[in-house]
Amino acid sequence: MNVKTISASDLHRFCSDVLKQSLPEEESEIIAETLVDADLRGVTSHGVQRMSGYLQRMEKGIIERKTEITVTQNNFATVLLDANNGWGQVAGVKAMNMAIQKAEQYGTSFVGVANSNHFGTASFYTRMVAERGFIGISMTNASPIMVPFGAKEPSLGPNPISIAIPAGENQRPIILDMSTSNVARGKIMVAKKNNEAIPEGWAITKDGKQTTNPHEAWEGFVLPMGPKGSGLAIIIDILSGVLTGSLFGKRMPRQYDDPYPQRLGHLFGAINIESFGDPDLFYKHVQEKIEETISSEPSEGFDRVYMPGDLELQRKKEREETGIPISTEILNELKETGEKYGVDLKDYTQQKQAE
Ligand SMILES: NC(=O)c1ccc[n+]([C@@H]2O[C@H](COP(=O)([O-])OP(=O)(O)OC[C@H]3O[C@@H](n4cnc5c(N)ncnc54)[C@H](O)[C@@H]3O)[C@@H](O)[C@H]2O)c1
Repeated sequence: MNVKTISASDLHRFCSDVLKQSLPEEESEIIAETLVDADLRGVTSHGVQRMSGYLQRMEKGIIERKTEITVTQNNFATVLLDANNGWGQVAGVKAMNMAIQKAEQYGTSFVGVANSNHFGTASFYTRMVAERGFIGISMTNASPIMVPFGAKEPSLGPNPISIAIPAGENQRPIILDMSTSNVARGKIMVAKKNNEAIPEGWAITKDGKQTTNPHEAWEGFVLPMGPKGSGLAIIIDILSGVLTGSLFGKRMPRQYDDPYPQRLGHLFGAINIESFGDPDLFYKHVQEKIEETISSEPSEGFDRVYMPGDLELQRKKEREETGIPISTEILNELKETGEKYGVDLKDYTQQKQAE
């Protein structure tokens, strides 16, 4: 695969300038930040390669250009927002900021969002909470392209969940961020764009057969992370979709196939550690937990043991220095998207041939 590298700041400016042609400036900045953040951390499946798909839905009028969020319910420690078919990233940042404020006041808080769209990576929002020194939780339901364990027909999204745990000032937090499928479907999308085979176990064809062909896999369905991934996806569908009064399961239109608003739901939570005990003692014990985990002797075939979030953090540090590698196929797609909006990718990039 041919790859070129672009600095995070150039990529951010390009994405926000493209988005600004249709969306308010502040909202464009938020969306660009979430996309580049994913690429910085090596989560290509949810990085800038998502732009064209998002914009196509917006061009067709399936997603609103401006995200007008309304408050449906505001109780002591819980809020229900309506994203009114706006952008999931804009709703996510607003909702999590509210959850943090409520947790400062009431100890813990949950904020639900109804009638939203794809919000990108779940940990973008939980990391906001960990930076505040609280525990963050986020989840969303998604397009029904995953089969429940043992089923032939899809009725679940690869519904992701993230939990971020702070470990004190200047200490890296623990950041679990996972789809409930074996891998995020976005990885199949990237493999399809780059024409690369996928490993077995990621997806099945429409007829229920295992496949390593990314095109067949895209037409087919992703597999849950066993019965436990399937069970967790059902719970997330209920907490994000049913609880917020959003669409759920089979009735949700699919992001890449159906020309209707998805009206999906998210749930965001924040736990103020002080409401349970001494935060400093908590952070100390979290650091001990990290230490006992990463100091475990690696088993055969492993170099070392990582905490959730460590590999992404390591990639972020590297890519902040060296830039973000992007395949020429995805770069061409970005270039075409830019051209549609009168934004020339060349004006933003000092591209270096990396491989
Ligand atoms: N918005 C949506 O609808 C949607 C749907 C699905 C997935 N997603 C996002 O896709 C992204 C990718 O999801 P995924 O399930 O493919 O992620 P993944 O399989 O790459 O990683 C999942 C988790 O495992 C941890 N991990 C990976 N290797 C590890 C190791 N060797 N040791 C310790 N921990 C390790 C990671 O740090 C991460 O927390 C996530 O950010 C998720 O939120 C979003």
